[in-house]
Amino acid sequence: MGKRKGIILAGGTGSRLYPITIGLSKQLLPIYDKPMIYYPLSVLMLAGIREIAVITTPQDRDQFIRTLGDGSQWGIDLSYIEQPNPEGLAQAYILAEGFLDGASSAMVLGDNIFFGHGLPEMLAGADAQGAGGTVFGYHVADPERYGVVAFDADGRVRDIIEKPEVPPSNYAVTGLYFLDGSAPERARAVTPSARGELEIADLLGMYLAEGTLRVETMGRGYAWLDTGTHASLLDAGNFVRTLEQRQGLQAGCPEEIAYGHGWISADQLAARAQMFAKGSYGTYLAGLLK
Ligand code: DAU
Repeated sequence: MGKRKGIILAGGTGSRLYPITIGLSKQLLPIYDKPMIYYPLSVLMLAGIREIAVITTPQDRDQFIRTLGDGSQWGIDLSYIEQPNPEGLAQAYILAEGFLDGASSAMVLGDNIFFGHGLPEMLAGADAQGAGGTVFGYHVADPERYGVVAFDADGRVRDIIEKPEVPPSNYAVTGLYFLDGSAPERARAVTPSARGELEIADLLGMYLAEGTLRVETMGRGYAWLDTGTHASLLDAGNFVRTLEQRQGLQAGCPEEIAYGHGWISADQLAARAQMFAKGSYGTYLAGLLK
């Protein structure tokens, strides 16, 4: 098993956010001062992952390439894989099988935003696991919108159920999945659900049945933000704005993480600061050099 690789399931144009996504992928819309996809990308980078595949539609591929490039500006290696139709989260592993080449992976959904003290340690813990998988349970008010964890009387995870009408708990499974190198092979055994998708819950269920899935709780000190509606998109932007204004620190800044890891040099960071010199993001990057 090689070093863990990353997958961002980035989706494409078209969603409940019409008409603002009519010509632009939701994952490229701004969350306050940067594209949405910077946040999940930053999570993979925080986990120390440098080889990342972005899965998007054939039509939307160019937008993502224009925005993210080959990753060299952040000392990472980005490649692009096409998913012609949205046939389910588990399909990502089948599409990425060649890219993964037997390696374990961390997959994050392009519209999932995580923030919290201790996140790097939590990611390091998941990365350190060998066989099996790790996912994160987060208490939400509206679990029926997500994959939901069912616990038995002893608090052990019994099942993960996708969008249950009657949720067995308030714990949603977030869109961040650390799985071992067997995920693509297992994904090929998943059959389409009633809504015609290869469900991530079914793939996770295979690990669960073997007793190799860890469900870690992300406590209330974390923010796991949603961007599925116009209101929650604005709320996420306001959250980031409040945080950044108060702290004077950026959330989800790939340059900062890359520089912190020593993946880019001071000169490379200076070049990025220069590129964005007309805006506050450039000022922030320049400040990191001091
Ligand atoms: O956000 C966490 C939730 O994500 C989990 O709790 C659920 O278990 C999981 O199924 C998923 O639920 P969603 O209803 O949010 O999935 P959605 O269909 O909205 O897809 C999530 C993102 O992935 C979205 O930005 C589009 C992208 N996507 C989705 C599918 C099904 C793809 O790129 N390809 C796909 O085939």
